[in-house]
Amino acid sequence: MSIESEIHRRRTFAIISHPDAGKTTLTEKLLWFGGAIQVAGEVRARKASRHATSDWMELEKQRGISVTSSVMQFPYRDHIINLLDTPGHEDFSEDTYRTLTAVDSAIMVIDSVNGVEAQTIKLLNVCRMRDTPIITFINKLDREGREPIELLDEIESVLGMQCAPMTWPIGMGKRFRGVYHLYNDTVLVFDPQADKGTSEIIQGLDNPRLNEFIGKEQADELRVDIELVRGASHTFDSAAYLAGKQTPVLFGSAVNNFGVQMMLDAVVDLSPEPLARVTESRLVAPAEAKFSGFVFKIQANMDPKHRDRIAFLRVCSGRFDRGMKIKQISSGKFMAVNNAITFMAQDRNTADEAYAGDIIGIPNHGTIRLGDTFTENENLKFTGIPSFAPEFFRKARIKNPLKMKQLQKGLQQLAEEGATQLFRPISSNDLILGAVGTLQFDVVAHRLQFEYGVDVLFEGCEFATARWLRGSEPDLKQLVDKYGFNVALDGADQYVYLAPNRVNLSMTQERFPDVKFLETREVY
Ligand code: G4P
Repeated sequence: MSIESEIHRRRTFAIISHPDAGKTTLTEKLLWFGGAIQVAGEVRARKASRHATSDWMELEKQRGISVTSSVMQFPYRDHIINLLDTPGHEDFSEDTYRTLTAVDSAIMVIDSVNGVEAQTIKLLNVCRMRDTPIITFINKLDREGREPIELLDEIESVLGMQCAPMTWPIGMGKRFRGVYHLYNDTVLVFDPQADKGTSEIIQGLDNPRLNEFIGKEQADELRVDIELVRGASHTFDSAAYLAGKQTPVLFGSAVNNFGVQMMLDAVVDLSPEPLARVTESRLVAPAEAKFSGFVFKIQANMDPKHRDRIAFLRVCSGRFDRGMKIKQISSGKFMAVNNAITFMAQDRNTADEAYAGDIIGIPNHGTIRLGDTFTENENLKFTGIPSFAPEFFRKARIKNPLKMKQLQKGLQQLAEEGATQLFRPISSNDLILGAVGTLQFDVVAHRLQFEYGVDVLFEGCEFATARWLRGSEPDLKQLVDKYGFNVALDGADQYVYLAPNRVNLSMTQERFPDVKFLETREVY
């Protein structure tokens, strides 16, 4: 098969949602409908074990397990689907943000009872940074939720995207009888007892069998609803969807398997194939003959004794072949990659070949960093892997001062993995850690102990927010001279302003109008 055909058949996406909306359930059901798992239940069972996060060993297990579950690849209708998992816990949202840089589209799951929730808004803002196309799945129609039209209004007003319903629900809660597909003119009848949630497909709203299946009253209601919906809602516009301005909406009940197959079909039929990617020098098209890709996630491997890590690389162009020599742009060194892994279903297979949109895992001992670009030879640098301004800060204190070297090394390496951010104030020897969620500190303390043999204490510190500084040399020097106590260097030796509160931050910003105070920065 040509590179072009391989690209046409690939779809790479992630699922985003507020916790409990049904992301895990939908993931599992997609895998089940895609034939990638035999028994539904495995993914949710894993999630259950992940819940006990206060226990260190559980955290360990969680990290180990999630290597295999981070990327799931399976074939569906002659296509290759790459589904990238994002951590459920919001403390690990940085991981989620980075994963979103490696996909071409996303599914947003909304709970029909709760509507748009806080985490949905946050994640959507991240998708907006790259205009990622989003398909919406309104879940839990088997419960007494909000009126569908109200939910669409909320998505439009809160998330600022037009909604184009692709299906429309027939009743909800106890009266939920299925959905009508507005574009195929078919009714899918919901039957909770049926093997895959659907008992019957009826062609046409005027089909007399509709009354038979769902009763005349509900059938008539549906006919009226659909007329209204067709008149009042947006029709699906592929260009608007691909530009991230419109979201096609499907309804269903993941736990009852209902609407899941339609979702999978929507991914194949509507969502984009692997897209061109931006580098500092040029746009890289997926069908280019030469291989290129970037690392969006680093994960410590199962065995903490061997500091192995897996670097997750998104292929952006060309073809990856096992054993290929690829160049790490940051070091200029070539690596022969004989042991890369792919993620067919849940098994780790050795990667023989991979194309744009695929993810490969490259085992390494800490030589590969977050944001690294790899190519066959050309000096490219993919952009867009963000670091976010941390919201929590801790000062690292060591129990045994003789272990200072290990502590520094450990913190540096864990920062390179993206576990937390590390800041070194220019006017002291403190080591300040920054995180988006406090659970990240627990993970770091645990890993320092088990992987680096360092007992560390984290103390609260006075900082509340951070901004990356950009400006001319003289301006920055003046700022550093005046506010040395608030300026630190991050892992990449970039200046960061650490502010004890918002007032301090805005006062400093006012004094240095020519310096930019950035909330995100690209990882280099
Ligand atoms: P998440 O990954 O987004 O956090 O959500 P998850 O899939 O874990 O689902 C959260 C809860 O919502 C689970 O219930 C799940 O069974 C339920 N759920 C998912 N889809 C549907 C649906 O279509 N209808 C209804 N009524 N519930 C749904 P739980 O009580 O937390 O777990 P469990 O007791 O079901 O295992």
